[in-house]
Amino acid sequence: MAQKVQFVETVLRDANQSLIATRLPFDKFEPMLSTIDKAGYYAAECWGGATFDVCLRYLHEDPWERLRKIRAAMPNTKLQMLLRGQNVLGYSHYPDDFVKLFVQKAVENGIDIIRIFDALNDVNNLKVAMEATVKAGAIASGAISYTTSPVHTHKKYVEIVKELKEMGASTICIKDMAGIMGPKEAYDLVSAIKDAVPELPIDLHTHCTTGLAFMTYLKAVEAGCDIIDTAISPFSGGTSQPATETLAYALRQLGYEVSLDDAATKKMADYFKGVRDEFIADGTMMPKSMATDTQCLTYQVPGGMLSNLLSQLKQMNALDRFDEALIETPKVRKDMGYPPLVTPTSQMVGVQAVRNVLDGQRYKTVSKEIKAYCRGEYGKTPAPINADIQKMILGDEQPLTTRYADSLAPIVEPTREKLKGIAKSDEDVLSYIAFPNLAEKYFEERKAKEENEVTYTITEC
Ligand code: CO
Repeated sequence: MAQKVQFVETVLRDANQSLIATRLPFDKFEPMLSTIDKAGYYAAECWGGATFDVCLRYLHEDPWERLRKIRAAMPNTKLQMLLRGQNVLGYSHYPDDFVKLFVQKAVENGIDIIRIFDALNDVNNLKVAMEATVKAGAIASGAISYTTSPVHTHKKYVEIVKELKEMGASTICIKDMAGIMGPKEAYDLVSAIKDAVPELPIDLHTHCTTGLAFMTYLKAVEAGCDIIDTAISPFSGGTSQPATETLAYALRQLGYEVSLDDAATKKMADYFKGVRDEFIADGTMMPKSMATDTQCLTYQVPGGMLSNLLSQLKQMNALDRFDEALIETPKVRKDMGYPPLVTPTSQMVGVQAVRNVLDGQRYKTVSKEIKAYCRGEYGKTPAPINADIQKMILGDEQPLTTRYADSLAPIVEPTREKLKGIAKSDEDVLSYIAFPNLAEKYFEERKAKEENEVTYTITEC
């Protein structure tokens, strides 16, 4: 029997996030939801990551309402979201009561699969979210943040996967956020994980950034990878995922079973071409994000980080120090115990590298985030932090020996109290805890809109 390969469509979330900074409003993709629903995908990734933040900040949409509307329009396809473990959708750790309620409400509002990752691959930061997902009756997809370093061996990854299984993961995601995984690494890693936990389906997630992705997926599938993340062609390539239709075509030709409906994906491609062209015309989608950039392979620095380094140096009128900052980046990463470079560690390491170069002395000044990191507030680092540097940064302060979230007071109940008369639901309370200023502004806008609507109705009568 032919090996089956399933697809996760990313146009609503990661492709949207990678190519147009998540600026796709609900109205722009609504006409395609029923088509996506009938196309035969394993799942549609549509929520989490930056969508929540951007809905409130730029699109004037209630992220919860967006989710409910997607759910209503897509009754047949699993809806997937991305969750940053104990960070939920933010950049630092939250108390457990918030993590639990957020997961419960995400599932109640329509999410079927929660992909949970931690920037340091510290399983202690995944546990609460994983267990809450299982409790809510959704599929917990335990993710490993892929990176390369002397301590990131297959043995290490397999250990993490086994712990994820213990926590209730029913699928495993290998998350290569920078697109640096090559075909051989994919083959070897998928094989190693399949050997260790053959019963768990593996989903590989990568980006086209360096141009490796199509080859990487193919070799992963040869090693038994069950699910791949792809984007409908007009929103594929560059910093996004490889194209859905291309992979369906190639995999079928090689004898794999692919259950996608070509008529449906053609309809989606025709439609999203128009959407893409609008975003190109108004400058939201930039040619740079659509190109292949192999620099990440040379420096092992994700593409997003390179552009951040450039803009930081430009602001400081120090573009001539770019090469030095680039050489300093992996050194800082090594000092910090080889964190995978993903939100928020990528920003922290990049900023520190620039400081070290411009100050002319390493760690002369450090950000409050790096200090918190050295204190252990982000969790256990893959390798120990360089002891001398940690001591220099912390002074007499001792690093944490317990999980940081254990020291955080519950936040849900006090916030419910605080928002009495303002919040209409627990979903509002959660939005407020995640992004207080944005949520407050959104509540005001919503109120003004409702009052206008009431006035309008009365005039009509
Ligand atoms: Co991604």
